[in-house]
Amino acid sequence: MTQVLVLGATGFIGSAVARELTAHGHHVTALSRSVMSDEKLEPLGVEPIRGDLRNHENWCAAVRGCDAIVQAAATFSDDMGDVDAGVLSAIEGVLGDRSERLRMVYTGGCWLYGATGDDIADESSPFNPIPSFAWMVRNARMLLESERFSTAVIHPAMVYDRDGGVFEDYLEAAKTGRPVEIWGTPDTRWPLVHRDDLACAYRLLVETPEAVGHFNASAETGVRTGEIASGIARHFGHECEFEILSVEEVVDKYGDWGEGPTLDQQMSSNRLPGELNWRPKYESYKESDIFQ
Ligand SMILES: NC(=O)c1ccc[n+]([C@@H]2O[C@H](COP(=O)([O-])OP(=O)(O)OC[C@H]3O[C@@H](n4cnc5c(N)ncnc54)[C@H](OP(=O)(O)O)[C@@H]3O)[C@@H](O)[C@H]2O)c1
Repeated sequence: MTQVLVLGATGFIGSAVARELTAHGHHVTALSRSVMSDEKLEPLGVEPIRGDLRNHENWCAAVRGCDAIVQAAATFSDDMGDVDAGVLSAIEGVLGDRSERLRMVYTGGCWLYGATGDDIADESSPFNPIPSFAWMVRNARMLLESERFSTAVIHPAMVYDRDGGVFEDYLEAAKTGRPVEIWGTPDTRWPLVHRDDLACAYRLLVETPEAVGHFNASAETGVRTGEIASGIARHFGHECEFEILSVEEVVDKYGDWGEGPTLDQQMSSNRLPGELNWRPKYESYKESDIFQ
C-alpha cells in the first residue's frame, strides 16, 4: 500500500483519481477546505486534511509521511501559477533530509501544446502554451529539474464523463433543445479522454515512480466539436443548432482560460500505453456511458 496525498481530490479529475487509488488499496489523504469537502471525500475512502493551497504552513508537514503526491488542484484565479509554485516550493521545503525522491504526479494539460492543427502532439513535441497557462510549463520544469522529486507530468486531453465534463454544456443544450454554444468554430478538434481512463493513468504513474517526464493522456487524438455537439443532440432527439462565439467573445465572456477550448488540437499518448500498458476502456466517446 502506498500513502498518497491528493491535492484537488474534490475536483473533477482529482475525485476520480482518489477513488481509483483507494479502490486499488492505496491509502489516500486529501486537502479539504470545508466540512462540505470532508463529506465528499469520506465516501471515497479518503482521509481529509484541513488546508488551503494558499496557506501551506497549516498542512504541508503531512507531506513527510507520503510516498507520493498527486497535484490536481487549481484555483483558476489570476494568480493560479504563483499559488501553484508556492505549493511546490513549500512541499520541497518540508522534505528535509529525506534520502529518497518524493514521487510527484503533476497535472499539466493539452492546452500546453497550443493549436496543433493537422499535426499531432506527442510527448516529444515542443510546448506552445496559451498565455494564461504558461506558468504550468515553468512549474513542471522546476519539478522535473529538482533532485527532491521523481516527477511525472501528466497532460490530460479534454476530459469527459457520463455527466458531462467538457461536454457539460452540450449535454444541457441537448436535454433542453436549446442552441449549443460553439467556441471558435465547429471544426475545432479536441483530443479526448474519459475521466475513468484518466484516473487509471494517474494510478499507474503513482505506482511506477521510475516513470519520469511528460505523459500525454489521450484516447482520441482529435474530434471536431461540432460533430460531438450534434451527436449528443441527436441522441436526445434534437437537431443541433449552433451559436458560434469567436475567440474574442469567449475570452470576453469567460476569461483568458477560454482560449483553451478554442484551440484546434490533436494529441496522442505514446508513453502511457508503451511504458505503463495503459489501455483506455473508452476508445471513442461515441461508445462511452454518455450514450447509455
Ligand atoms: N478538466 C479538464 O478537462 C482538464 C484537462 C486538462 C487539464 N486539466 C487541469 O487539471 C487540473 C484540475 O482540473 P479540474 O477540471 O479537475 O478542476 P476542478 O474540478 O475545478 O477542481 C479544482 C480542485 O482544486 C481545489 N482547489 C481550488 N482552490 C483551492 C484552494 N485555494 N485550496 C485547496 N484546494 C483548492 C478544488 O477544491 P474545492 O472543492 O475546495 O474548490 C478542487 O478540488 C487543472 O490544473 C486543469 O487545468 C483539466
